[in-house]
Amino acid sequence: MNEVVKPVEREEDTVAFHVEAGIAWVRFNRPDKRNAMSPKLNRRMMAVLDELEFREDVGVLVLSGEGTAWSAGMDLKEYFRETESKGMAGTRAAQRESYGWWRRLRWYQKPTIAMVNGWCFGGGYGPLFACDLAFAAEEAKFGLSEINWGILPGGGATKVATELLPFRKAMYHALMGENIDGKTAADWGLVNEALPLDQLKARVTDVANVLLAKNPVALKATKDAVRRVGVMTYDEAEDYLIRAQEAANFYDNEGRKEGIKQFIDDKTYKPGLGAYDKTKAAKAKV
Ligand code: COA
Repeated sequence: MNEVVKPVEREEDTVAFHVEAGIAWVRFNRPDKRNAMSPKLNRRMMAVLDELEFREDVGVLVLSGEGTAWSAGMDLKEYFRETESKGMAGTRAAQRESYGWWRRLRWYQKPTIAMVNGWCFGGGYGPLFACDLAFAAEEAKFGLSEINWGILPGGGATKVATELLPFRKAMYHALMGENIDGKTAADWGLVNEALPLDQLKARVTDVANVLLAKNPVALKATKDAVRRVGVMTYDEAEDYLIRAQEAANFYDNEGRKEGIKQFIDDKTYKPGLGAYDKTKAAKAKV
């Protein structure tokens, strides 16, 4: 009997994306493998992030998954077994590729939203944390499954758990290898909100549209500040925030002046109730 030969997966097919009305919809695209992150996917994701980061038609990036998974974490065959067979060099190269795009995403120029439509395991916590906001389907399942197959939650997953969860919950989550659903993930603070799967995209679109209406330089300065100040003393944070705002003024000094003017002089909006009309200000330098 002839053996069925499966076509070789092409690197460019491992990530799908399209841009629509200011939002870049990026999707893990290995549904048959539950979107497990392979070296090919990791390389492709970095290339896609590169392509989208400074595009004028992209204001927000949403990361979701094709099929039933967001991402089943690292690919046990292609990321672990096959790279380990190449020795230390293989392992380190694969780690650099995956950690590299997660780091890139943590400090991405545009605000980012994880839209967790299904399974989210282990290594998936890296990109989950890298996204600035996260919305999950109530039906989604989250787990640090590493303990179930005999390793610790590496690739930052332990760090993500302790950043986002209280100590007791992080420890239980990491040691027990039990899954939690989207609702529990929201209760615990792993994600912002959980909604029924059929309402998830509409909610994420609404959130993205709110972000699209805001000053993009201020958004980047703010998201970086929230990530940075957590490890600083109060005085360091105070100093960092002064300098970060002054640096933001270099790229967009007109936006905030326009924001003040529309409130104080024109009386066309109230900052306590919504954003100023950024289209009336001179264009920012980025
Ligand atoms: N690495 C490699 N392959 C994976 C994978 C992973 N992390 N997750 C799923 N796959 C593959 C399966 O081997 C299977 O491949 P095959 O069709 O060639 O046999 C295919 O994806 C479908 O997986 P399956 O287990 O049949 O799907 P399911 O919907 O019944 O179960 C999961 C989904 C996510 C519960 C299950 O696939 C799973 O436990 N995956 C591993 C999760 C994990 O521990 N990840 C590592 C974190 S670092």
